[in-house]
Amino acid sequence: MGIEPATLALYALGAIALAMLLATLKTRLELSLAKHRSVTGHVRMARRIASLVPFYEYDEAHFFRCDDAPDEIAARRRAGFMRLSHLYRERFAQTVRRTAEVAPGISDLQFTGAYRVPFQFSRFVRRHLTAGAFVQSSAGVTLTDLDGNHLYDLTGSYGVNVLGHDFYKECMARGQERVRELGPVLGAYHPVIAANVERLKQISGLDEVSFHMSGTEAVMQAVRLARYHTRRSHLVRFCGAYHGWWGDVAPGVGNPQPANETYTLREMSEATLRVLRNRRDIACVLVNPLQGLHPNAGAPADSGLVDSARGARFDRAAYTDWLERLRAVCSERNIVLIFDEVFVGFRIAAGGAQEYFGVAADLVTYGKTLGGGLPIGVLCGRAPLMKRFRDDRPVDVCFARGTFNSHPYVMAAMHEFLQRLETPEVRALYRDLDEVWDRRAQRLNQRLRDERLPVEVANLSSIWTVCYTQPSRYNWMLQYYLRAEGLALSWVGTGRLIFSLNYTDADFDAVADRFVAAARAMREDGWWWSAPSTTNKSIRQQILREIVAHRWSLARGQEKAT
Ligand SMILES: Cc1ncc(COP(=O)(O)O)c(C=O)c1O
Repeated sequence: MGIEPATLALYALGAIALAMLLATLKTRLELSLAKHRSVTGHVRMARRIASLVPFYEYDEAHFFRCDDAPDEIAARRRAGFMRLSHLYRERFAQTVRRTAEVAPGISDLQFTGAYRVPFQFSRFVRRHLTAGAFVQSSAGVTLTDLDGNHLYDLTGSYGVNVLGHDFYKECMARGQERVRELGPVLGAYHPVIAANVERLKQISGLDEVSFHMSGTEAVMQAVRLARYHTRRSHLVRFCGAYHGWWGDVAPGVGNPQPANETYTLREMSEATLRVLRNRRDIACVLVNPLQGLHPNAGAPADSGLVDSARGARFDRAAYTDWLERLRAVCSERNIVLIFDEVFVGFRIAAGGAQEYFGVAADLVTYGKTLGGGLPIGVLCGRAPLMKRFRDDRPVDVCFARGTFNSHPYVMAAMHEFLQRLETPEVRALYRDLDEVWDRRAQRLNQRLRDERLPVEVANLSSIWTVCYTQPSRYNWMLQYYLRAEGLALSWVGTGRLIFSLNYTDADFDAVADRFVAAARAMREDGWWWSAPSTTNKSIRQQILREIVAHRWSLARGQEKAT
């Protein structure tokens, strides 16, 4: 008996539907597999978890022994803490006073002040250990605060300071002289822009340039153009990578809005390459080459330093191999490869990450140091990708705006920066750059090992992070000992030390001496005592128990109140 044609058609339809369903499930599964296993890789879950963590803090007694340290150790910690507190009050008196006066009116200061250390310790630390947020001058590799203290600058001005403060002062002053006659005229250009465009084209190896006011905006424009030209919706960013604070590139904790057209995938992973090969909705892939230092982990900061699990290690060959494979897949699938060099551009090599890794991107963003000390974001790209209109669809355009784009003062300071980049003195700084900074990192690590201090540094060239080699809940205290030794860190603490390239060996040795002295003092004050049974895992479990207990008591309190 033959099968009815109608039944046959139904079977066929069913088979097609099943095949489609399986294909959808397969691509969905591939996407899931390409996510990093950590919470950082699961941005929605991270936001949900963050919203569940209740505030609690340690009282004064617990502050010094939240790891169940014996009385003698807690007493040593307390004495050390109070000694530091006294020293801070004396040494940074004016700076702290002025900071306290302005802090209620500056939301940024309130935020950075509160998140300098893990929240359980934060209020107590703020009460006793405030270094202040003011400096009045800079020279060489040092800063001077309002009390006249000279501090070695390891903040790097968020990465802007590649070539030394005096270098940028000159760029800004000379630049200003050059364009003074024009002043703040916007819209029309000062002729100085032409040389910048030419030089940036050479450096990036790309055809066109657009100027913006910040790195964030340059990234926004890169992604917008990629979506416009590919007519696809999604961007891929890698787990942990920072690309500015625009919502689409900063999903998860810190952004109240979901980023529904962003995939956060695992870096250095075959599963990710599979997703790029198989999905049809991906417009672009954003790479922040700084992640080579800590792939798939967020930017390190002491506020998250609850144990000693922070790890970092830069493997140039492995990261180069990854970028090459990424480049190949993007070319194969017509996905726009964007290098976000806002941080590392002009720092790891004069030609930036493209030169350093020998991999060419389709679009490249620069910022920070390129402004010669003034605010900047720059996008360089291949001509077809940079075009903001379609010849055959005159109304289908892709906007980019910004009142202060191409400000004459910024263009002139940039011009000075780019010109000086060519001078023999500056060229010399880039020679053997990695050897210089790797050797310095090794020297410091050797000294730390020699003294059996539980600290080590990892670096990508002149960008360093501090790691801790034995479990402890108090590693974040090191930032305060470092400050007491005259080392200025940015508000993220020991997560990021950024050197300018004008550090001489003698400057560096002075920093290393102070670093070792700070770690020594911290150990002597008992902060690195730890029970033999303590592990990073046991610390995290303890914190989880605390969180659950506080959440529970909060819920019970609410129940009673209703
Ligand atoms: C890689 C990267 N992209 C983008 C940005 C954002 O730049 P901006 O702070 O100038 O907006 C940053 C800032 O740190 C960055 O490091």
